[in-house]
Amino acid sequence: MTALHDTLWASLPMPAILVDTDDAIADLNPAAELFLNISARGLRGTSVYDRIQIEAPIKESFARVRRDHGALSISNVDVGGRQRPPVQCNVQLAPLIGRPGHILLLIEPRQIADRLGRAHSAKSSARSAIGMAEMLAHEIKNPLAGITGAAQLLSMNLSRADQEMTDLIVMESRRIVALLDQVEQFGNLRPPVRRAVNVHDILDRARKSALIGFSGHMKIIEDYDPSLPLTFVDADQILQVFQNLIRNATEAAGPAGGIIRLRTFYDVSLRLLRKDGVNGALPLQVEIIDDGPGLPPELAQNVFEPFVSGRVNGTGLGLALVSKIVSDHEGWVSVESAPGRTAFRLSLPLAPKNEIHEI
Ligand SMILES: Nc1ncnc2c1ncn2[C@@H]1O[C@H](COP(=O)(O)OP(=O)(O)O)[C@@H](O)[C@H]1O
Ligand SMILES: [Mg+2]
Repeated sequence: MTALHDTLWASLPMPAILVDTDDAIADLNPAAELFLNISARGLRGTSVYDRIQIEAPIKESFARVRRDHGALSISNVDVGGRQRPPVQCNVQLAPLIGRPGHILLLIEPRQIADRLGRAHSAKSSARSAIGMAEMLAHEIKNPLAGITGAAQLLSMNLSRADQEMTDLIVMESRRIVALLDQVEQFGNLRPPVRRAVNVHDILDRARKSALIGFSGHMKIIEDYDPSLPLTFVDADQILQVFQNLIRNATEAAGPAGGIIRLRTFYDVSLRLLRKDGVNGALPLQVEIIDDGPGLPPELAQNVFEPFVSGRVNGTGLGLALVSKIVSDHEGWVSVESAPGRTAFRLSLPLAPKNEIHEI
């Protein structure tokens, strides 16, 4: 391909995939890499059916495009991949002129207008702010793919010193994508699938992954009440809660590190009047306690609101997600903070007797 074609391919803001005569992936552009969350290198030559799930008779559609030498479009289908959940898209198939049997597959995630309608139907302002942010995240990723692609092309003809600059562009773009993923994660939150579980198992998972990840320089102490009965939660979602709280404690401590204490205990005094009028007991207490500087006083009242952040690179979504997950579980989260001691407390329900199965 000529340089212009390379540039065109890399700048196309829409995910595009070139399919060869055997329905294998011949090439994909940076927007498609971002969309599928996977690098082009590993994908070339693999079967398109294996890598991309399109909820439509796609094999028949390929055959039709080849037979009729004409383009075909499919509206409102779910498209996903191994590394990304399906989203609604319009899909276009076009025969490649001059290359018999080759097909260009264009994937167009549904337009911003459609998504706007959804966000506006949400009642609370926080929810629609999240809806907005989720859409923005989605729309920003496309031009970002173009920027990354252009930088990668540029780097081919550069000296090593100048390549550092293009590497920086690519690296920072990836960081933005990771940030946007966090925003989208919010919109993708499903209702919890609850089971009877030992909260210590979830805490252990959170602790281990923090220690090998972002909290390597912290000391994490376990202060568990081993007789604590089972709770009734979606373990993956509560894991996310613990991870967000441990991450915040780590970030508050700064590079010098500090001590995080994971404490569990039983306290029957907390009851929550639920929406259905039932008086729900929340006797299982989990505290994540750090010895950092404490919440910035001007934020203390609304740290659980979305987009409230005291950090330069913060999104302000960590605690909003914590609060959303905990309220979906009809639990309670609260915080007590002073310089040298900040404690986030999670209060969770007991597992109902009929949900406890011996393993
Ligand atoms: N353990 C903590 N110690 C001190 N400040 C905290 C702690 N946890 C949260 N905060 C403050 O609350 C803010 C909001 O946190 P969060 O919702 O996770 O968003 P983000 O981490 O993206 O800023 C943080 O920016 C920080 O200022
Ligand atoms: Mg955070």
